[in-house]
Amino acid sequence: MPEQTIRWGILSTAKIARKALVGAIRASSNGELAAVASRSGERARAFAREEGIPVAHGSYEALLDDDGMDAVYLPLPNSLHREWSIRAAEAGKHVLCEKPLALDPAECLEMAAAASAHGVSLMEAFMYRFHPRTERALEMVRSGAIGELKQIRSSFTFPLDRPDDIRWSRELGGGALMDVGCYCVDVSRALAGREPVEVRAMANFHTTGVDRQMAGSLRFEDGLLAHFDCALTMERTQIYHALGADGHLRVVDAFVPETEDTIIERFDVENELTRVSVKGDDQYRLMVEHFADCVLSRRPARYSAEDAARTMKVIEALYVSARSEGAVVAVG
Ligand SMILES: NC(=O)c1ccc[n+]([C@@H]2O[C@H](COP(=O)([O-])OP(=O)(O)OC[C@H]3O[C@@H](n4cnc5c(N)ncnc54)[C@H](OP(=O)(O)O)[C@@H]3O)[C@@H](O)[C@H]2O)c1
Repeated sequence: MPEQTIRWGILSTAKIARKALVGAIRASSNGELAAVASRSGERARAFAREEGIPVAHGSYEALLDDDGMDAVYLPLPNSLHREWSIRAAEAGKHVLCEKPLALDPAECLEMAAAASAHGVSLMEAFMYRFHPRTERALEMVRSGAIGELKQIRSSFTFPLDRPDDIRWSRELGGGALMDVGCYCVDVSRALAGREPVEVRAMANFHTTGVDRQMAGSLRFEDGLLAHFDCALTMERTQIYHALGADGHLRVVDAFVPETEDTIIERFDVENELTRVSVKGDDQYRLMVEHFADCVLSRRPARYSAEDAARTMKVIEALYVSARSEGAVVAVG
């Protein structure tokens, strides 16, 4: 491995790789994009040609066997995250795996154990956490900018118009909560700085069995409440509010902002608005650089697979509730 960079391989020709990660890896200061793999050699070659990637492999196994690679970015359907992260770890590759890390907490912990056994890094690719605005909003809440946190609201919805999309498949780990509601759960946990004790959820299910729309609530031990909604069937919204005793924060375009400078809206108790500006950046590149830096300096990544397991515990409980007409379900 060259001392200051890692060589990345992309496991599949996923849309998100083309849309964000190819550019992010290429723009990163400590990574180079070395290869792509697909189940189809033809698709791999076409992707490599179009994106200017030197090596194309006609199977995921071939990429994992390639000594010219240090790390893989893994944007497979959610149900395949566990298997291919473990296989990558066994092949000695570091793994940046798409969100949600796996189908349930047990899978996350199995993946963590495999990474640890093989001495590689594993991190969930929740890129919004790396945006300076997310970090600033968390810091404002923690430092008391809105007083004691009382309630969190969040929403992530968009219209999914591709009938054959992986998100409509229960076997592949689809559903609104798995795809976009996971951001709401994650940001609620992050803003709260602790874990919810119980949840309840109502959902509308697609004929394939996945949730296409969900509204859920999380209750924390000391009375803090969080509620969220997510959907694959509605206009695009991405927002969270942190409501405190002395005011509240509103963050719009919350999870996938553009790279321009951005703002946090802070309202005081009189509802007076202050716009806190935050420099824009490419959150995908920041995430990739952080991960590569941790690999190169042999430091643990900022977000562990155990933390991803805690998000999955909440998601698991929300699904139990949504499939039991909104029963209150204990987390874990
Ligand atoms: N962080 C973000 O901003 C973000 C945004 C979108 C999606 N994601 C996550 O990224 C992952 C991929 O999402 P995507 O929308 O990019 O998916 P996608 O375009 O459908 O890509 C998934 C890829 O997985 C491979 N694959 C392997 N087995 C498959 C199967 N049985 N069915 C379908 N594809 C299969 C395919 O590549 P080959 O045919 O080349 O092998 C396919 O191109 C998901 O985990 C999702 O949650 C993250």
